[in-house]
Amino acid sequence: KKIVLAYSGGLDTSAIVPWLKETYGCEVVAFVADVGQGDDELAGVEEKAIASGASECHIVDLKEEMVSDYIYPTLQTGAIYEGTYLLGTSMARPIIAKAQVEIARKVGADALSHGCTGKGNDQVRFEACFAALAPDLEVIAPWREWDLTSRESLLDYLAERDIPCAASATKIYSRDANAWHISHEGGELEDPWNQPSDQVWTMTNSPEEAPDTPEFVSVSVEKGQIVAVNGERYSPYNCLVQLNNIAAPHGVGRVDIVENRLVGMKSRGCYETPGGTVMMAALLAIDELILDKSSRKWKETLGNEFAHLVYDGRWFTPLKASILAGAEALCELATGEVVLKLYKGQVHAVQKQSVNSLYSEDFATFGDDDVYDQSHAEGFIRLFSLSSRIATLNKKSK
Ligand code: ARG
Ligand code: SIN
Repeated sequence: KKIVLAYSGGLDTSAIVPWLKETYGCEVVAFVADVGQGDDELAGVEEKAIASGASECHIVDLKEEMVSDYIYPTLQTGAIYEGTYLLGTSMARPIIAKAQVEIARKVGADALSHGCTGKGNDQVRFEACFAALAPDLEVIAPWREWDLTSRESLLDYLAERDIPCAASATKIYSRDANAWHISHEGGELEDPWNQPSDQVWTMTNSPEEAPDTPEFVSVSVEKGQIVAVNGERYSPYNCLVQLNNIAAPHGVGRVDIVENRLVGMKSRGCYETPGGTVMMAALLAIDELILDKSSRKWKETLGNEFAHLVYDGRWFTPLKASILAGAEALCELATGEVVLKLYKGQVHAVQKQSVNSLYSEDFATFGDDDVYDQSHAEGFIRLFSLSSRIATLNKKSK
């Protein structure tokens, strides 16, 4: 038997390698997805995997594909989960699962494994994607099977087998990082009455330590996609890197929420999404200019539906294709330029323009105009409110 494990180099997956080998008497191939989690996490990961007992380690660079094929389409829908969460962990799961299945095919594996706990969303996302892409492969979720439930027991398990591991017995937070965001859960955050301590945040400055002078960044949008930052064109991934670098020092993109997990419980999470928050604000500013009222309302519906789809791990479904096709149509005219002001944790679109703008100063002005006849409004309001008028008149005549 051969198992491909989604391996991170952390304590959990380091213990999963020997555990799988002993429990299933199998070969374990480590698969590492580079989704932009950074050099700290990726340094020496192959050596670690082999030291844990993996027969091979495949590191796959998914950074560009994740931003262009997963994040940008999601952005086109305007998806935000429960009004706040920009879905950083959720969006990364389908591309990791897909690349993992590809490795499994390449090495001729019969099973897939991951290090997600039995209490979270991630297990559902991985396994829902596995089910869609490779229903023939067995799935093994050690956290739902083993009795190694504390960090100490995991460290003891590795020590008994002389497997080196740099992880410490006390790690406060559960974090998940990629190019788009980092999430923080656990520790004092488990009590929603506790404010996040300074140790929580790792990607952004606090608004207090952010510069006292605002910074302005211009973002170019073509058909609902960010294509340039401050006039320079970059690939989607590099646009994100640029905006992260510009927005993080200003403390932009921090949120602290209690969210509904798919598995029923509520959880408290802190998220940092600096560049993504700027991207979202820029795209919204273009929508303000180009979408009529009904289209805007429909887009809100699409975005809300898509947020739940992504959060719930339903990426490889016809519903995804349908919503994305709808969003792409609404983005056909989403081309323009936005200048955003970054200051002390805030981002505001302060200048916006589009060749497709429906905004007309001639019509909207509070000053004199010669394009709009105010007397037309009277007939409009009469018909717009006609059903209310009839309903009340009917009641009176009864
Ligand atoms: N609650 C967030 C989500 O479900 C973040 C999950 C973080 N995952 C992790 N393995 N640390 O998308
Ligand atoms: C986990 O439980 O593995 C992380 C949290 C989540 O998936 O929601």
